[in-house]
Amino acid sequence: MRNHLLRIGRYHLILTASLAATSCLAADPDQGETLARRWCADCHLVATDQKAATTDAPPFAAIARRPDFDLAKIEFFLRDPHPKMPNMTLGRAESADIAAYIATLK
Ligand code: HEC
Repeated sequence: MRNHLLRIGRYHLILTASLAATSCLAADPDQGETLARRWCADCHLVATDQKAATTDAPPFAAIARRPDFDLAKIEFFLRDPHPKMPNMTLGRAESADIAAYIATLK
């Protein structure tokens, strides 16, 4: 019985790890850029060719260059709208795409 549980535990670990890998591979930075230009550019500088944003929100390139930049953290952060953001909810895939796009701005 103990052995059996151990095996389930290990299988679960492998499964979780491979799901995480899949979600990384599936992230599409080009799609993320499209979403960022549509949803985030009012407040953030989302691309180098953008001239101005309307608030003091940090430019995406500055976020990407932070020493503690972490793709998973951004992705997680984006699953919930931040306080001053309009009421928009990004799905898992959209969050991953935008996070992947921000990572390309380093
Ligand atoms: C209405 C304005 C507004 C919009 C639209 C907006 N943001 Fe923000 N965002 C802010 C402001 C202001 C901050 C800084 C203060 C805060 O964190 O609430 C911020 C902070 C952030 C941060 C930094 C969090 C940190 O760790 O400091 C990220 C990442 C971010 N926004 C991503 C996005 C993305 C991606 C979108 C588009 C899907 C978006 N924002 C749309 C106003 C906005």
